[in-house]
Amino acid sequence: MIPQRIIAAKREGEALEPAALEAFLSAYLEGAVGEEQMAAFLMAVYFNGLNDDELAALVESMISSGTVMERKGWPGPRVDKHSTGGVGDKTSLVLAPLAAELGMVVPMISGRGLGHTGGTLDKLEAIPGFRTRLPLAEFDRVLRAVGCAMIGQTEEIAPLDRRLYALRDVTATVPSLPLITASIMSKKLVEGLDGLVLDVKVGRGGFMTRTGEARALARAMCGVGEARGLAMTAILSAMDRPLGRAAGNALEVDEALACLRGDGPPELRALCIELAAEMAVVGGVAAAPDEGRRRARAALDGGGAMERFLRLAAAQGGRLGAGGGELPRAPEMAVVGAEADGVVAEIDPLALGYGVIRLGGGRTRSAQEIDPRVGFRLAVEVGGGVGRGDPIAEVHAATPAGLEAGVRSVRQAVRVVEESVRADQLPLVIDRIRCGIPSPWSAASNGCR
Ligand code: URA
Repeated sequence: MIPQRIIAAKREGEALEPAALEAFLSAYLEGAVGEEQMAAFLMAVYFNGLNDDELAALVESMISSGTVMERKGWPGPRVDKHSTGGVGDKTSLVLAPLAAELGMVVPMISGRGLGHTGGTLDKLEAIPGFRTRLPLAEFDRVLRAVGCAMIGQTEEIAPLDRRLYALRDVTATVPSLPLITASIMSKKLVEGLDGLVLDVKVGRGGFMTRTGEARALARAMCGVGEARGLAMTAILSAMDRPLGRAAGNALEVDEALACLRGDGPPELRALCIELAAEMAVVGGVAAAPDEGRRRARAALDGGGAMERFLRLAAAQGGRLGAGGGELPRAPEMAVVGAEADGVVAEIDPLALGYGVIRLGGGRTRSAQEIDPRVGFRLAVEVGGGVGRGDPIAEVHAATPAGLEAGVRSVRQAVRVVEESVRADQLPLVIDRIRCGIPSPWSAASNGCR
């Protein structure tokens, strides 16, 4: 196998033989294909895509690069949720304990921040002491004891995806339908799941900016899962604005804790309840989404989900203190005020996501250390009215220079216009695609729709 020939073939838009692609990928794992060659290959895939056979070969290579977990012998259905990535998306921190509280077993493998989006692992690591690199035997112990466990990839878990994920992050090759499909589905398929819920983000803050693209991504992921017997639902949700009010790792943990206490921003709570309800359905612990929603609300408001999160954090070494009091705080904070009276027409999630990176809360190079303390806490929502000087956001920064950069990011992200202009935004839940589920609520049970 000559790496340059594989790269050139993909650059020219030719279809690769699955065996040739698999040989190229395993040579990369063994060090016989260099990072620069893989970066060039990823860019060729970004432009020319992969056909179904190539995609299946990529998924298979990612899965077989590590261990596959055991699906049988657990006290409940193994169910997970994965998001395609957004700004302010802290739903995983709420959903793992919430779904466990509803009777599911949640073996969650998450990623770090990717491009301008935040990552669940980075958020968890904002909790002092929280260990996201558990050996699989310990992961299993936490899962049996708590009903949920949250880790990142290790050399044991889809290591090929782990390496490609880090490379895509810094080579602008993230927003590619086949690369996202393979990355997400390989991680989920090694978890030995009975059911999976995908949250496919649509809008400037996600990797799919249009609903049609997001639907195609959802269908591609459903196709891969369904071929392997997984019950799935994909929700298309709004990412034309940040989810909730906090962006930045420790600030997002704080907001997730508020949601777990039955509080927090309404959109964050609403999306968590929707996703938990769909998890309950694909896991077979609720007959229909309404029952799942009702039980999810009760678990948030009754304190069960919060108590479960505290047990999870403790089992993985995290020290939260009373009410999250031990979360790290940035030394500099400024409140940004509105420059004029009006209505908030837009909060650009992309500007805020890059703002977090500029503050040091995300990466510009693989394996870079990040500062968990920095970020933004919005004081306004799209459609809300403001008066001149009213607070629109807090900036949390490590240095005075960071603070200034953060203030600029807020000014760029939050657009205030005259009151006569109507603010336009996507519905929070845009669509649902159900796949391969024996459906109790409709006669048509099989196939994506
Ligand atoms: N999440 C992943 O795990 N991989 C991607 O490629 C994008 C989001």
